Amino acid sequence: MAREFIIPGQIISGSGALDMAESKLKTLGKKALIVTDKVMIQLGNAAAVETALKNQDVDYVIYSEINGEPTDTMIEAGLALYKEENCDFLIALGGGSPIDSMKAIGALVTNGGSISDYMGKVISIPTPPMVAIPTTAGTGSEATQFTIITDTKKDIKMLLKGQVLMPSLAVIDPQFTMTAPPKITAATGLDALTHAIEAYTSRKTQTLSDTFALSAVKRIFEYLPIAFHDGKNVTAREQMSVAALEAGIAFNNASVTIVHGMSRPIGALFHVAHGLSNAMLLKECLTFALEGAYERFAQLGRAVGAAKEEDSDKEASEKFLKAVENICAELETPTLEEFGIDKEKFFSVIEKMASDAMDSGSPQNTQREVTVKDVEQIYRNLW
Ligand SMILES: NC(=O)c1ccc[n+]([C@@H]2O[C@H](COP(=O)([O-])OP(=O)(O)OC[C@H]3O[C@@H](n4cnc5c(N)ncnc54)[C@H](O)[C@@H]3O)[C@@H](O)[C@H]2O)c1
Ligand SMILES: [Fe+2]
Repeated sequence: MAREFIIPGQIISGSGALDMAESKLKTLGKKALIVTDKVMIQLGNAAAVETALKNQDVDYVIYSEINGEPTDTMIEAGLALYKEENCDFLIALGGGSPIDSMKAIGALVTNGGSISDYMGKVISIPTPPMVAIPTTAGTGSEATQFTIITDTKKDIKMLLKGQVLMPSLAVIDPQFTMTAPPKITAATGLDALTHAIEAYTSRKTQTLSDTFALSAVKRIFEYLPIAFHDGKNVTAREQMSVAALEAGIAFNNASVTIVHGMSRPIGALFHVAHGLSNAMLLKECLTFALEGAYERFAQLGRAVGAAKEEDSDKEASEKFLKAVENICAELETPTLEEFGIDKEKFFSVIEKMASDAMDSGSPQNTQREVTVKDVEQIYRNLW
């Protein structure tokens, strides 16, 4: 069966990527809206982007109000600024939150309406040019056609999509990730691991996405613990930046599955950072998913050296699950309880969370059939 494989218009990666990208920025427009957060300003990362624009005589205005995972109200304010300032292209600097915000603002500039109008639809009118500069080795949003925005009225993390949301230019400079503290390194790195595992074991896998997913899983197992324990290790940071990009490319073309589907409702209702809610779910969700895809999980187990060639697929996939549990433990992933979530409150919203998870469509990409009752049970198993 023929399949499409979608990647960003252009990718510049490695140390010095921003310098190399500088001359391209000029070709994208006259005035940029830089979508970022306050941390990027404090760290001087925004100043580096400003310098690049000034060097090219490109005008800009900064929108730095992405103070958490993006909501519909943050998007409206960014859109208003874009219009007021007569911008004609967008640059996102930061983790997945600023990058997703940029995509949502860009979508509204040309598609109109409010962001919630696009829930369950395909965003189709091309956005102004968009440049994504990730500072976490995590979401891979620089290489995906997705944006995740919280609807504050309904308490839902909406998964919105459209090929037009692919950035025109992705600038992956690992230098920007060096300052990420261990907790953010862990959560975002485990997000990337989840993308790669889900892409490799989804119903929508394809040969090319497998290549990227497998490579990402291997790289993350090798380098994420190093980046977590020693944030100044340049090699580990470089390798994690590549891995997050690979994982983004993989799930962009093969989708995510049950973990992401169940993770978004936890994020929306309990404000757990995206990567962390994935990590909290990995063991229980993969225990469930394993049964439908022993062969695929076994290949991952052998690829990361957790299983031997002679192990049966069932044994090898169980060893892979154990290896995932070990890396989550090494990266000090808390349980929901340790994170401070109230058990009673959690149980009172399990039905809503299960229904929202199924509505997102992601759990249905799991190779084993998933029912709403299964999802409810997995939520209960987290305690
Ligand atoms: N579009 C997609 O394909 C996709 C995929 C996965 C996740 N997401 C979304 O991305 C969002 C999460 O993004 P994220 O995990 O990258 O986190 P984030 O962008 O929310 O950033 C988390 C925190 O880390 C800080 N930070 C970022 N880079 C830093 C650095 N280099 N040094 C120091 N601090 C730094 C930020 O300022 C922020 O306080 C969620 O909303 C999630 O749903 C999107
Ligand atoms: Fe994710």
